[in-house]
Amino acid sequence: MKTLFTDCRVVSMQTDVTEQFGYQVQESMMMSVEDGVITGLGSSLNTDGFTVVSLENRLVTPGLIDCHTHLVFAGNRANEFEQRLNGISYQQIAQQGGGILATVQATRQASLETLVQLALPRAKALIRDGVTTVEIKSGYGLTVNDELKMLRAAKRVGREANIHVSTTLLGAHALPPEFAGRSDDYVSLVCNEMIPAVVEENLADAVDVFCEGIAFNKQQMERVFETALSHGLNIKGHTEQLSNIGGGESAAHMGALSVDHIEFIDLRGVEALAANNTVATLLPGAFYFLRETQKPPVDLLRKNRVPMAIATDFNPGTSPFLSLPLMMNMASTLFGLTPKETLYGVTRHAAQAMGLKNKGQLSVGFDADFAVWDVSSPAELSYQIGLSPLHARYLNGVKANDH
Ligand code: NIG
Ligand code: FE
Repeated sequence: MKTLFTDCRVVSMQTDVTEQFGYQVQESMMMSVEDGVITGLGSSLNTDGFTVVSLENRLVTPGLIDCHTHLVFAGNRANEFEQRLNGISYQQIAQQGGGILATVQATRQASLETLVQLALPRAKALIRDGVTTVEIKSGYGLTVNDELKMLRAAKRVGREANIHVSTTLLGAHALPPEFAGRSDDYVSLVCNEMIPAVVEENLADAVDVFCEGIAFNKQQMERVFETALSHGLNIKGHTEQLSNIGGGESAAHMGALSVDHIEFIDLRGVEALAANNTVATLLPGAFYFLRETQKPPVDLLRKNRVPMAIATDFNPGTSPFLSLPLMMNMASTLFGLTPKETLYGVTRHAAQAMGLKNKGQLSVGFDADFAVWDVSSPAELSYQIGLSPLHARYLNGVKANDH
């Protein structure tokens, strides 16, 4: 199939965030797409053999990419929201067996079908804001079968909701109650059984670990990552969310695609990210909802030219928010990122955080996943929240009539 899109106002994200060109609106552009891939971008392209579609002078950006979500789970944790406002901390709730483990209990009880039905409207909420690719983590099963169930559900969401899905095994998210006092044994289960089972069924693109005082220590994270790498999987980490135990630095040295949260990362950690081209994924929804005060070191990240991604981290405990533009807005208002940085954070840098080499920018050779907007400038995308300016989404050059 050959389609030529005309009358586009293109924001290509083609250049590094420190340069101007990629964020500049290129007026009156044409974009040709053949078999789902962008084959031309210019002010005048040959129309022979193409179906011509005018985008009527609307703004066109790469489709948005949410590079960190926990979209599949059962139950909710509104009770913990109340508890926290009555003075109990997220860590205390976790230590008392609530938190992640409360969602584990609900998710273990849910069938695959139920998980899919719960996740589909969540995916659709992201879609309404122009998301074309989403990463979905497991991590609320914590047995081989329940983690596989979550990942299978995530893949089905991709097929049924018309959105590209990458899946991440987060078996090392919390210590399940049946392993209390035996965390190394649980890590062995993740390494020796979960990862091989997931690889066997091709159910995950990456492996994630929650490296934190209330979760897994650095050595345990390294064991999981070594196993993941030996199976050819990408690695990424939840690190420095509540404290600094060196997870981000170590994950970067091991070649992590991204380290996520990182409010507590230090200079050594940031330098390790820079040296290894690891993306810093900022999750302002969790920072906001946990009413944290320690902000990620944005100036240090900028100074060291570490690419910053922004994601929803959608989950029932720390970030029950299904709006990527809201996260962009929060990244600006809470962390001081510019609208340009936040748009890079949900396109080019988010693609890098997922290891997707053909997504995140509008360039020849890239997948024709794009969003068409009723806005005049890209800053509007993260400015007004609640009334999506999305006109249409295209996945591989095909319009998705679904928002
Ligand atoms: O990204 N930090 C760990 N994982 C999630 C929270 C999961 C939960 O509380 O259910 C996060 O914040
Ligand atoms: Fe998360």
